[in-house]
Amino acid sequence: MQIHSPITDLRLALKNRGRVVLVPTMGNLHAGHIALMTAARAHGDTVVASIFVNRLQFGPSDDFDLYPRTLNEDCDKLTAAGVDLLFAPSESDLYPEAQQYHVEPPQSQNQLDGEFRPGHFRGVATVVLKLFNIVQPQAALFGKKDYQQLMVLRNMTRQLALPIDIIGGETVRADDGLALSSRNAYLSAAERAEAPRLQRLLQRIGTAIRAGETDFARLEREAANELDQHGWKTDYVAVRRQADLQLPGDDRKQALVVLAASRLGAARLIDNLEIDARDGR
Ligand code: PAF
Repeated sequence: MQIHSPITDLRLALKNRGRVVLVPTMGNLHAGHIALMTAARAHGDTVVASIFVNRLQFGPSDDFDLYPRTLNEDCDKLTAAGVDLLFAPSESDLYPEAQQYHVEPPQSQNQLDGEFRPGHFRGVATVVLKLFNIVQPQAALFGKKDYQQLMVLRNMTRQLALPIDIIGGETVRADDGLALSSRNAYLSAAERAEAPRLQRLLQRIGTAIRAGETDFARLEREAANELDQHGWKTDYVAVRRQADLQLPGDDRKQALVVLAASRLGAARLIDNLEIDARDGR
């Protein structure tokens, strides 16, 4: 695997590489990232991974300094996964001057994580557009665990007419259901044992909705209460339309997704569950 940091080096290395597929990451790679790398192979000739912990998407009280940086181990994993090129810019490669032009996601995304992490999606969209401009991929993969992020990036790509296919990868889970995340490393042993409750509650909501439950507010409230009774601090549990993450209307057949974000100790965990279109009962 080739490793490049300066933008000019990467651009040279990407000449005549056929269809390029990009998998942007912040490193500290786990099996979820590696599944994206493996899936990327089916979408092009050259698989490029990027590793960059993007300061712009962290708020002042977020974990930018704490965020685990494990470049050597990550390189071994990417090599084993057959990735062709790694773009691992330094802060001064990517932001040689203060970034003054930004991508501002629409008001409609100032909800869910957009509400609890103000400026987060602006930072994500800005760095991803910049990575797209640098790598000029024909396709890019993002995990569905960051469901709202995937939606923001899909919409940005469509609205700015970028010639890039955005592909979502399924969430990879531990045997007990916990979604893999770099932030799981912040959990103590007791918190790690508690953490699968989040996905269990989402499954319970999914089961209730599939069985015909329509009082989503009650399901959300009960799940948030249960989390908080077990030591979590919940930002939201929310049933939304898959299509645009807005509140579900009366159309019983639309596909829904239930999303949650809650803090357990030092970790803010997010997860979601897609609920198939209901049968109209
Ligand atoms: O999902 C992530 O790891 C980051 O938000 C991304 C897409 C790499 C942008 O920094």
